[in-house]
Amino acid sequence: MPLMEELNERKKKIDREISKIFKNEEHPLWDHMAYYPRAGGKKLRPFLVMITTGAFSGEEDKALPYGVALELVHNFTLIHDDIMDKDEKRRGKETLYQKIGEAQAINAGDGLFALAFNELSRSSDICGEKLRELLNELSTSVIKVAEGQHEDISFESTFDISEEEFIGMIEKKTSYLFRAATRGGAIIGGANEKQIDEMGEYARKMGIAFQIQDDYLDLIGDEEKIGKDSGSDIREGKRTLLVIKALSELSSEKEERLKKILRKEENTPEEIDEAIDLFQEAGSIDYSKDLAEKYAEEAKSHLHSLPNSEYKNLLEEVVEFMISRSR
Ligand code: IPE
Ligand code: IPE
Ligand code: MG
Ligand code: MG
Ligand code: MG
Repeated sequence: MPLMEELNERKKKIDREISKIFKNEEHPLWDHMAYYPRAGGKKLRPFLVMITTGAFSGEEDKALPYGVALELVHNFTLIHDDIMDKDEKRRGKETLYQKIGEAQAINAGDGLFALAFNELSRSSDICGEKLRELLNELSTSVIKVAEGQHEDISFESTFDISEEEFIGMIEKKTSYLFRAATRGGAIIGGANEKQIDEMGEYARKMGIAFQIQDDYLDLIGDEEKIGKDSGSDIREGKRTLLVIKALSELSSEKEERLKKILRKEENTPEEIDEAIDLFQEAGSIDYSKDLAEKYAEEAKSHLHSLPNSEYKNLLEEVVEFMISRSR
């Protein structure tokens, strides 16, 4: 079956589980908590949990509660991320804080964050040592996301960021949830420590490639497809790889021009286009594509020790999807 069909099949299961959680809750907070989950999303993280569990044991349904928990955590990070990034669109809809205000959006995020752990604790499929290990994976990843988001925001006030520092930042803000997905899936599937670590490295590198593509799509992507505002990273002055590379390659006059655009509170569509031209001229776009490709290749190399199976094929294909996706 093609990857998209495999993904959609699991997406339906995850959506069904998530809508059950919200069904009987009447407090208005719960409507806010359900707003992003109901708006959709690709469900890549629970998909990775399920196929990794499948790759080790074949019993992927056992991974559903953890997959749901991880997706809820992801949705929580999106609520807070949109406040930090001052974005207006998410999953094709108005962002939650734009709709209900920052204060109530923070409350909804808090609720979702705790709900994730609550769901995991209620699962009868997962208990004992495995539950302890999964709690460790999940909570560690949230701390790392917060560290990464901290760096993402503090980088906005300096131009002195190296490529290495940038990779370190996206590893935390983005790779860690993917890492929690595959490590968690491996734990549920009964993998040994070495296998769990290999799956973690696979996801760490894949997540880096995924975020480089996300930054590319923010710039070049079709708003309808990505369901988010395009050009948002320029408006917010994000120090993406595109920026870091351009600042190191452009003439000092053009470097100053790019910095000026990034420093401005608001940018016109012409200024966004100008930044894109500067990235083109500096070779930033090709450079980013190549680096994403390199991380994707490295990610796949961590799958070598897995026995051949349909699951292994899916784990390989999903890496390709991460760097070729248009949404
Ligand atoms: C968005 O992740 C947040 C990033 C780490 C860039 P996704 O692109 O997986 O978002 P959804 O869940 O499909 O909306
Ligand atoms: C997000 O990175 C990482 C998170 C922790 C949510 P972005 O800020 O680029 O994600 P999008 O583009 O808003 O989805
Ligand atoms: Mg954002
Ligand atoms: Mg952000
Ligand atoms: Mg982005």
